[in-house]
Amino acid sequence: MDKITNVVEMKKITKIFPGVIANEDVDFNLRKGEIHVLLGENGAGKTTLMNVLYGLYKQESGEIFINGKLAEMRSPSEAIANGIGMVHQHFMLVQNFTVAENIVLGDEPKKGLKVDYKKAREKVQELADRYDFKINADDIIEEMTVGQQQKVEILKALYRKAEILILDEPTAVLTPQEIDELAVILRNLTDEGKSIILITHKLKEIMIMSDRVTIIRRGKSVGTVETLDTDIDKLAELMVGRKVNLVVSKEAHESKGTILKVQGVEAVDMRGVQILKGISFDVKRGEIFGLAGVDGNGQTELVEVLTGLRKATKGKVLLDELELTKMKTSEIIEKGVSHIPEDRHKRGLILDFSLYENTILGQHKKDKFSKGQVMKYPEIRKYTRDLIKDFDIRTPNELISAGSLSGGNQQKLIAGREISKNPDLLIAAQPTRGLDVGAIEYIHKRLIDERNRDKAVLLVSLELDEVLALSDRIGVIYDGKILGIMDAKDATERKLGVLMAGGSFEDMEKEEGLYDYEDAPLNIKSGNDSNHENEITTEAAKETKTSIKENISKEDVETENIRKQDVSGKQDTNSVNDTSGIKDEGEV
Ligand SMILES: Nc1ncnc2c1ncn2[C@@H]1O[C@H](COP(=O)(O)OP(=O)(O)OP(=O)(O)O)[C@@H](O)[C@H]1O
Ligand SMILES: [Mg+2]
Repeated sequence: MDKITNVVEMKKITKIFPGVIANEDVDFNLRKGEIHVLLGENGAGKTTLMNVLYGLYKQESGEIFINGKLAEMRSPSEAIANGIGMVHQHFMLVQNFTVAENIVLGDEPKKGLKVDYKKAREKVQELADRYDFKINADDIIEEMTVGQQQKVEILKALYRKAEILILDEPTAVLTPQEIDELAVILRNLTDEGKSIILITHKLKEIMIMSDRVTIIRRGKSVGTVETLDTDIDKLAELMVGRKVNLVVSKEAHESKGTILKVQGVEAVDMRGVQILKGISFDVKRGEIFGLAGVDGNGQTELVEVLTGLRKATKGKVLLDELELTKMKTSEIIEKGVSHIPEDRHKRGLILDFSLYENTILGQHKKDKFSKGQVMKYPEIRKYTRDLIKDFDIRTPNELISAGSLSGGNQQKLIAGREISKNPDLLIAAQPTRGLDVGAIEYIHKRLIDERNRDKAVLLVSLELDEVLALSDRIGVIYDGKILGIMDAKDATERKLGVLMAGGSFEDMEKEEGLYDYEDAPLNIKSGNDSNHENEITTEAAKETKTSIKENISKEDVETENIRKQDVSGKQDTNSVNDTSGIKDEGEV
């Protein structure tokens, strides 16, 4: 009988935490060679289910079968012995170790009693090259981009001979290009017969990358669908249980005077290498200024300078007339600047502290929360309960530790805390990282509300869709410099993409030239039939043109349509050659 092989069968899995049924009678099957997405709201129980499969948590009830055989996963090593590998939502690499050291950790090749690092390096490099990971076994983790670190995590699982790979939100922190690379890697792996479970909130990606999708809602499985039989709107509705407005609605709003001036800021990174090379721009009251760019071009360091976490080596930052560059972080906060940090574990939360303690971090001295040395706990807890309600943070109560919230709910807690401080300037770095579509909808709305109340928002995001949908003006950062600032109504994904790659508008116009070839083949042919050289060039141009069109059309058209429908009061001119709204940022 021709039967589809299930490499994993999870039957009626129930996992309970104090006050929460994280998984309730969940059934889940993984077929050999498929990419199967687990989809669900923040706190739905996806990570928990996978932690059960990986032997990190013991289920209260239910059974797991691997290749048809009942398996007990009492620890990750038993899961690994069953051919399961997991890349976690928050990476678990030793930062000052090399790639090879991290990968072989706990499973080192030995020469007698000693670890054979030469062999380890060779094996790791061979594996990396085999999957075309473009990674050097000797590189130190802390000097690598997040995308590269993730490849190291995948390699680590492959080194342990994983046949079943669990990836928990692998794309939340990746750039679009890295996501494309990952998609290729995953397909190569399934072509080899490996099977992949992918957790992601990005619906577009699900449609492109996956074979099937299982939806989990509030701890229960809602069902499994074939990707080909569904679409983005249906998936959103299945996971949230209601229709989600995937489109940002934003009325025109006039800005009022400048609040933040960044003037020729320079700074060096951890290794003393210059990373900011003269950054200048300003942010107005009543506007969302979006900073777009590929990760690693200075965004992180710029935000650190603005929030007093890093010293500028040159230049100034002014908040109204106050010089922020001379202040400590605590003083900057006091002056009305809030910050949603990009790394929620490093800067955003103290994981061992309760939710209510985390809620008042940085503002515990306010009269509202304390009197002298005495904390006003009833008020603090009430404030936290309100925050939990407003931002729909899924938790049994305000007493649990921040570390036991799901990843997305940790993010909601930080975003909620910072927005609720009622800042004059909100610096929002990757504010919706790891959030489900419903939560993104809400945070977007709150950011727009801030701007409508004449507060200023500096949005730093790797998500172009987000920058385009929310911003009033957009600056592009590349190699520590601002390459251009444009009015959002003049911006398109393509224009930004060119600048983000370090290109200029002249480059883009050259590329545009290909489009003007539309009628060229006919003209050339009728003019001179024997002109093969010309014909070939034209054919080549046609091909390039088609591929460029194919590449940009889907995404661009989609985003553009959404924006056109939605940014009411704003006519999208959208002519690619129209660069009138763009000005180069002059030296200060
Ligand atoms: N170690 C823990 N201790 C207590 N509660 C936990 C723990 N881990 C998870 N939970 C709770 O279990 C529920 C499911 O969390 P889980 O992390 O599985 O969600 P998720 O679907 O992965 O969400 P996200 O998309 O935000 O990552 C949440 O209510 C969470 O607070
Ligand atoms: Mg999770």
